[in-house]
Amino acid sequence: MAYAITQTCCNDASCVSVCPVNCIHPAPGEPDFGHTDTLYIDPHTCIDCGACADACPVDAVLPVDMLTGPLQEYAEINAAYYAERSPAALEPDPTPNFHQWDSPVFDRNIPSDFGPLDVAVVGTGPAGMYTVEDLLLHTNCRVTLIDRLSTPGGLIRYGVAPDHPSTKKIGETFARFHDHPRLRLRLGIEVGVDTSANELSEHHDAVIYAVGASAARGLDIPGEDMPGSLTATTVVAWYNGHPDVPADAVDLSSERVAIIGNGNVALDVARILTADPDTLENTTVPADVLAKLRASKVREVVLLGRRGPENAAYTAPELRALANQNAPRLVVDDHDPRVATTIDAAASGDKAHLLRELPRETVDWTGPPGPDRRIVLRFHSSPSEFRGDNEIRALRTTGPDDDVDIAAGRVVRAIGHRGTPVPGLPFDVPTGTVPHSAGRVADKPGTYVVGWIKRGPSGGIGENRACARETVGTLLDDALADRLSGTRRSSRPVAAARRHLRKLRRPFPNAPTA
Ligand SMILES: Cc1cc2nc3c(=O)[nH]c(=O)nc-3n(C[C@H](O)[C@H](O)[C@H](O)COP(=O)(O)OP(=O)(O)OC[C@H]3O[C@@H](n4cnc5c(N)ncnc54)[C@H](O)[C@@H]3O)c2cc1C
Ligand SMILES: NC(=O)c1ccc[n+]([C@@H]2O[C@H](COP(=O)([O-])OP(=O)(O)OC[C@H]3O[C@@H](n4cnc5c(N)ncnc54)[C@H](OP(=O)(O)O)[C@@H]3O)[C@@H](O)[C@H]2O)c1
Repeated sequence: MAYAITQTCCNDASCVSVCPVNCIHPAPGEPDFGHTDTLYIDPHTCIDCGACADACPVDAVLPVDMLTGPLQEYAEINAAYYAERSPAALEPDPTPNFHQWDSPVFDRNIPSDFGPLDVAVVGTGPAGMYTVEDLLLHTNCRVTLIDRLSTPGGLIRYGVAPDHPSTKKIGETFARFHDHPRLRLRLGIEVGVDTSANELSEHHDAVIYAVGASAARGLDIPGEDMPGSLTATTVVAWYNGHPDVPADAVDLSSERVAIIGNGNVALDVARILTADPDTLENTTVPADVLAKLRASKVREVVLLGRRGPENAAYTAPELRALANQNAPRLVVDDHDPRVATTIDAAASGDKAHLLRELPRETVDWTGPPGPDRRIVLRFHSSPSEFRGDNEIRALRTTGPDDDVDIAAGRVVRAIGHRGTPVPGLPFDVPTGTVPHSAGRVADKPGTYVVGWIKRGPSGGIGENRACARETVGTLLDDALADRLSGTRRSSRPVAAARRHLRKLRRPFPNAPTA
């Protein structure tokens, strides 16, 4: 019986490298890698050894005969990826499936006498931790790992939705490096506040910034900052208990909430705001936030996509999981005839096809929502103005033919993130990233970037693995070519760097021991 990869796949390809028969694709280096929602196991080649399931950091790989409920679909989804690409479909004379794939490539070659470098990594999110993993497992570098917060994990801890525990579990895989003998964890140190980029460079051979993209993008329309208008970054931080966001930051006294944006973050927020609070009880949702969710008046969440269902940014596994839930009900607003046409014409592999079984309804947005909790998907609808006096009463939307006011007392803007400048590093304002070449920061020898501050705010957890590999590769190339030439004097003992950071550390009542 073969294995199959399911909804929570993080695409980091940990499974690919342990598979003895090369039956998991797309693999790093293959054209599709990074462009599919999940990786897929070829059921005809899989030898049922389970190595992939052991290696998966998010428990996404399961034996096909253990798939239950909505996950059963994934046996067919995995097989379908190969059916479309099977030699039978491509060639008249079929050969065994795995012959069409290339062998894995191992391209890094470090001399055995390569001396230990002292590297600082700033940021403990996925990008920082994949970087740390690469440095510790594949080089003899000594690493100082820094974060401004007292709890490590970045968006794994404070972004990933609390009802996705298996995704959050990847934090445990990363945490095993916190105690590594060649790593020192320094929490509560913010670069730009407690220490500077120049100071860090003085104390290390190289510094890698993995600081993410924590700001919310702006809409730039009238009324955007009116009370009742929230960013998804605030709501997500709130239900994840982020120390920067108090428990009273989100008021759920409105019966209808409009969410602008059609990405996975918009789906996360819609799901949590309409969830049965009992299902969140044994999760990481803080008790005071859970109490607010229990007292919530929200019955309807409308998700506004400015384009059609064929262009939605959410991934198919996330929408499939939402559509398969018994409650809340998921409904499609059929105000625009293009929506039905697109859904009805969608091929079975298309995202829009997933909407086919959902009820369609022409919603009256002026009145109150019905009695049952539900999520409405409204496409071809762009926000143009937040309307109200002291707080939002409605969101004006512009569609193909007319303007519609959606009576919603709360609006969540889930239109993506933006990086913020790190003092002392160059910054490209239009993209909100640090300019770089393969991770090397322009005009700052010995300084590197990785993750969302390097690529911009898109891509799931696993994409940061290949990104980290590229940055570490660039750093090693520079070290071997003697191009680090930062301000650090390599004769300076690493203990000096550690003393420097220990001095800066702010006290935290519940800080984990470093
Ligand atoms: C709400 C949300 C939910 C998501 N859910 C999923 C999911 O379920 N599955 C999935 O595959 N992907 C998910 N993603 C995407 C995934 O989280 C990102 O790909 C990933 O977190 C980016 O990693 P990063 O390390 O670049 O940034 P981050 O995870 O943001 O980490 C940045 C770290 O740097 C620290 N930092 C920032 N500035 C400084 C400074 N000046 N000094 C010191 N430290 C600093 C921060 O405290 C933070 O710990 C989600 C994203 C969001 C926004
Ligand atoms: N696997 C998971 O469970 C998970 C969970 C959360 C996040 N993530 C990942 O994290 C990344 C970030 O997710 P995200 O949801 O923040 O961003 P995203 O995927 O970029 O989606 C942003 C959404 O906002 C819309 N938008 C942007 N500007 C707008 C405007 N001015 N008016 C109206 N709509 C606007 C976009 O529409 P257009 O497409 O028309 O631009 C898009 O629908 C993604 O790669 C995502 O997959 C993964």
